[in-house]
Amino acid sequence: MSEWFIYRGTGDPDPERIDRRPAPPPWRDFGAPPIGYRVPEADSATTRRLGTRAVPLAVPGSEALRLINAALYLRRPLLITGEPGSGKSTLAHDLAFELGLGRVLQWPVVSRSELRDGLYSYDAIGRLQDAQLARLEGGEDGQGGPDGGPHPAGDIGRYLRLGPLGTALLAAERPRVLLIDELDKSDIDLPNDLLNVLEEGEFTLPELERVADRPGQQTVQVLTDDGLRAPVTGGRVRCRAFPVVVMTSNRERDFPAPLLRRCIHLDLAAPRDERLAAMVQAHFGAGSYDEYIGLVDRFVRTEADGGVRPTDQLLNAIYLVQHTAGRHPADQDAVADLLMRPLDNGPR
Ligand SMILES: Nc1ncnc2c1ncn2[C@@H]1O[C@H](COP(=O)(O)OP(=O)(O)O)[C@@H](O)[C@H]1O
Ligand SMILES: [Mg+2]
Repeated sequence: MSEWFIYRGTGDPDPERIDRRPAPPPWRDFGAPPIGYRVPEADSATTRRLGTRAVPLAVPGSEALRLINAALYLRRPLLITGEPGSGKSTLAHDLAFELGLGRVLQWPVVSRSELRDGLYSYDAIGRLQDAQLARLEGGEDGQGGPDGGPHPAGDIGRYLRLGPLGTALLAAERPRVLLIDELDKSDIDLPNDLLNVLEEGEFTLPELERVADRPGQQTVQVLTDDGLRAPVTGGRVRCRAFPVVVMTSNRERDFPAPLLRRCIHLDLAAPRDERLAAMVQAHFGAGSYDEYIGLVDRFVRTEADGGVRPTDQLLNAIYLVQHTAGRHPADQDAVADLLMRPLDNGPR
């Protein structure tokens, strides 16, 4: 395996490797001062997807590893395309797990998604209601809290919540992993809007910029996507280390050329052989691949007719056979056929 690799896809967590990267290229050096934000540990979203990780995942020396590592060195987003079920979203979790980067920030994109949803939300109505309540209770605006202290409505940070992208751009010590999932589902503007933020590594919250010159409002504690609070100074969020951004696409549509130019593009093939074996064993234990090789063969063979079959179907079939039909061998074939149907001939 190449020495320069930071991410090796071995499944072995090695949190120190990321610090061995050379300094970023000058045009990707953001370097905001650290804000002392404590990143939470990986959560169940990661463990559910990765299983137990007993075996190496990526095939060493593969083109995929080179591209992923190029993105890590260049501090560029990764754009991963591939058929459903090829392991695109899970790759973000694998990166976070192996590099010890904590909880994965996830932004599932839908057709209505706008840049602002990823950056932050401001609950102006909630704040107004709280302020009215404070007045009813006899305090001035911003006063009259339950214990006679300042009323919560005076604390604007309680009503501002950074989204997954906004949280990824906080100046934590180490880079965060941000999964922008199924970007091809977005409307036409989102990829371009996203591009600007990812180029600049920063954004502003006008609600905070406006009040930054008021006493005590220069630095405000806002909520984050992790459910914690983080300081924002002068209404501006700027990253320190550029986050590990993984954007995925099922290729439902093409992306604008400027976006492609600024990303590292990886086309992830459907997992076969070692990679498929690693996935099966991660979820069902060592030896399970050989034990269920009949189902695996069936899964791979049915692809010959050109249909798309996500790995999830094989995992579902193995689970069912293991827990039910396994006791009735005659049922195995029937279950396999039921579950492993091509996506493109199925219900729309
Ligand atoms: N590195 C991995 N280790 C274990 N299981 C994996 C891995 N990558 C993918 N899988 C499994 O394969 C299935 C499909 O992966 P997913 O990331 O959802 O694909 P995609 O995002 O390309 O549609 C999931 O059930 C996931 O648990
Ligand atoms: Mg996915």
